[in-house]
Amino acid sequence: MMLLTILAVVAIIIILPLSIRYYMKGATCTSPVKLEGKTVIITGGNCGIGFETARNLLLRGARVILACRDLNKAKSAAEQLSELGSGVVLVEKLDLSSFDSIRTFCKNIKQHITSLDILINNAGVYFHPYAETEDGLEMHMGVNYFGPFLLTHLLLELLKKSDSPRVVFVGSVIYKYGKIDFDNMNKPEFFHQHGAYCDIISLENRKKTEFGI
Ligand SMILES: NC(=O)c1ccc[n+]([C@@H]2O[C@H](COP(=O)([O-])OP(=O)(O)OC[C@H]3O[C@@H](n4cnc5c(N)ncnc54)[C@H](OP(=O)(O)O)[C@@H]3O)[C@@H](O)[C@H]2O)c1
Repeated sequence: MMLLTILAVVAIIIILPLSIRYYMKGATCTSPVKLEGKTVIITGGNCGIGFETARNLLLRGARVILACRDLNKAKSAAEQLSELGSGVVLVEKLDLSSFDSIRTFCKNIKQHITSLDILINNAGVYFHPYAETEDGLEMHMGVNYFGPFLLTHLLLELLKKSDSPRVVFVGSVIYKYGKIDFDNMNKPEFFHQHGAYCDIISLENRKKTEFGI
């Protein structure tokens, strides 16, 4: 009995953390697809999930444009990525908390590329204290939702020139806990930074249908 109890405790101590780690890791992409000749824009590609995604795309031979609000961070990430010796990495300034910056980004990018194969809307803020974008939107709402929406809209022309365009929105399972109050989207008086993130992610999920993808 004692031995069984010890075995059960050991199993819980070992198996539980391993199972959580396995679950949190998510699925692994095993596709061997190459992306030579394809152009990809990834927002917030200087760190985190965006950086790792950029690395994978470069290893597949893509031309990757890191669209980042801080050009110094973007250049330093581009240097690290260039060491992979695969694909081509470029940087361009994009601040999703400013509609002006988004418009300028799209205008500039059109001078460098004639078609776009993949747009990855990855950049986002989460659990940000209450703040407003320069256009007066609550920060999560502006950076995670309206900014990427405008960006995608302005890049549609380039995307349509690709044979098989793809638009990817990076979201989170946390959308399940979001609830949008359409009468009070900015909600400064009821603001809760965790709630705001969940709400925006839940709203983000709708973009798939809004763009028909
Ligand atoms: N990490 C997670 O566990 C998790 C889970 C589910 C979903 N997600 C989602 O995955 C995406 C990436 O998350 P992450 O963990 O990699 O986050 P992260 O490491 O914090 O990176 C976020 C990226 O977004 C950029 N960004 C923030 N505000 C911006 C703005 N106004 N304009 C342009 N870029 C801006 C950041 O730039 P700076 O470097 O200049 O700050 C950074 O490059 C987010 O959309 C997030 O909601 C993450």
